[in-house]
Amino acid sequence: MSPDFVCPDETCRFCPRLVSFLEKNRKLYPDFFNAPVPSLGNLNAELLIVGLAPGLKGANRTGRPFTGDFAGDLLYGRLHDFGFSEGIYQACPDDGVRLLNARLTNAVRCVPPENKPTGDEVRCCGRYLAQEIKAMPNLKVILVLGGLAHNAVLSVLGQKKTAFKFAHNALHRLDWNGREIRLLDTYHTSRYNVNTGKLTPEMFTDVFKTLSKALKA
Ligand code: URA
Repeated sequence: MSPDFVCPDETCRFCPRLVSFLEKNRKLYPDFFNAPVPSLGNLNAELLIVGLAPGLKGANRTGRPFTGDFAGDLLYGRLHDFGFSEGIYQACPDDGVRLLNARLTNAVRCVPPENKPTGDEVRCCGRYLAQEIKAMPNLKVILVLGGLAHNAVLSVLGQKKTAFKFAHNALHRLDWNGREIRLLDTYHTSRYNVNTGKLTPEMFTDVFKTLSKALKA
């Protein structure tokens, strides 16, 4: 499968609002990446992590998911602590961080205004998420950051949302085309969630404990 179909490039024109937001940001911030942010990590991984969308001055600037965003600090920290990455995260794409048995992506690949993609944009970008999941032959667990990513994954896997309610640290068992896939939920590592204590570092550590057990099961 062509890697372009898994990760769109700047020629993707499906979401007019996101295309024009990128164009505007190319003028405002010519040094930023300002294109659909490609996934990080190998398609042979057993773990796929799905976030929301690139942050304007984070992943949209650096061109690597969660890199330079507040949300990346906790995430890359735990990935390292639990053996899913090597190299020291320094919030820039040339810090040499390499994911191990993990791949990191977003439900929506382009930066949305105010960090809020519309339902149509999530559905439209789902074509890439669907292809990505199909292209991961060893996939066992999908870790979703937040309710939007949870619903996006259920949609592309053709699962009923009412059967799998989002709950922090909940591990769902999905049957997808005769394949068993686990879906693990966590609150997003956003600045708001962390600063309000909705998601504490300890709670996020517990999610990674669940994740490690699920991958070993
Ligand atoms: N938040 C996300 O959900 N994804 C990113 O890539 C950056 C911030």
